[in-house]
Amino acid sequence: MATRGTILLTGGAGFIGSHVAVEVAAAGWQPVILDSFCTSERSVVSRVGELVGAPVRCIEADIRDAPSMRAAFGSTPIHAVIHLAGLKAVGESVEKPALYHDNNVRGTEVLLAAMDEFGVRRMVFSSSCTVYGTPQRLPIDESHPLGAINPYGQTKLDIERMLDVWADAGPDRHVCSLRYFNPVGAHASARIGESPIGIPNNLMPFVVKVARGELPELGVFGGDWPTHDGTGVRDYIHVVDLARGHVAALERLDSMHHERINLGTGSGCSVLDVVRAFERVNGVKVPHGIRPRRPGDAAAAYADASLAWRRLGWRASLGLDDMVRDAWAFASRPS
Ligand code: NAD
Ligand code: WQD
Repeated sequence: MATRGTILLTGGAGFIGSHVAVEVAAAGWQPVILDSFCTSERSVVSRVGELVGAPVRCIEADIRDAPSMRAAFGSTPIHAVIHLAGLKAVGESVEKPALYHDNNVRGTEVLLAAMDEFGVRRMVFSSSCTVYGTPQRLPIDESHPLGAINPYGQTKLDIERMLDVWADAGPDRHVCSLRYFNPVGAHASARIGESPIGIPNNLMPFVVKVARGELPELGVFGGDWPTHDGTGVRDYIHVVDLARGHVAALERLDSMHHERINLGTGSGCSVLDVVRAFERVNGVKVPHGIRPRRPGDAAAAYADASLAWRRLGWRASLGLDDMVRDAWAFASRPS
């Protein structure tokens, strides 16, 4: 299998991490998943192994647990960490800000301390377009003003700042914070994908549940936004494209100190664009109706994705039809 060195993926059993593990292995690295399984299933690890063609090592641990983290780094030499572990539900973060700070920010501190102890100096971090707060101009480039509009977003800003300080501690430290826009879709095999617990907050998993008949109707949050059809516009990016962006960052990490790079397609789709593509491509109905705007939402948010092309030689290659097809294929997989 892989021979280029070991990549530790914190949160590697999650929606994005599982796809990153597959692409990391395809690029010749040895992925090792470290996960507490607080929002994911253990069976994901064996499914990633099937896709990779060999079992993938998994360490069950919480990044906040210093002895476990030391044991993880002590067990094998690690070339770089891709740090995806985190809680991400915006509404829950408003109700439990201390939990989000503890898990995401303090967890990262414990992780960095273990990396320091074992001389691991490279990190790719899962940041988010949420660090830009309410968009002030479009497309959103990396110099757009920053601001958190909820405790979850604050954790991403705090971690990016912490990584500045960590990177400044020596010239041999290399960090890339990838600011994801709206990841959706699933692996083409339909073996891994997004399985949120309970009623989903995000658009695509909600659409999937409505199409399956598990929820009666999609509420479209606002039909009078200043957009092409009145519904909210976002930059949806296929999770496999996103995962490949991590490999591109890994390959160029040694030329970086701490860089922040958007991962998006650079174009926006409205809620109705998503619903119509889903219905057309998959031949299913998604009953929907206009509801009041959701507090905190913006009319439109999409990336200027040109820095990723210039710095990483990466750009998205999959479109909305691929995203809705693969999301549906994963949801319709035989159990
Ligand atoms: P996910 O919930 O599917 O995956 C997160 C994984 O991290 C899970 O497997 C979970 O068990 C693990 N985890 C959480 N806290 C942990 C801890 N303390 N110790 C060990 N493992 C822990 O979410 P995802 O969508 O795959 O998101 C991955 C990362 O990307 C997160 O940091 C998230 O904030 C970020 N992100 C996600 C999106 C998105 O829309 N999905 C957008 C921008 C950024
Ligand atoms: C997309 C569009 C909604 C649900 C979230 C996080 C953000 C980042 C990306 C992690 C909007 C509309 C949604 C529904 C709807 N994640 N919608 N009915 O709001 O762009 O951002 O994911 O870092 O932090 O907040 O994504 O999927 O919730 O919404 O009409 O039932 O779909 O209004 O226009 P969002 P989303």
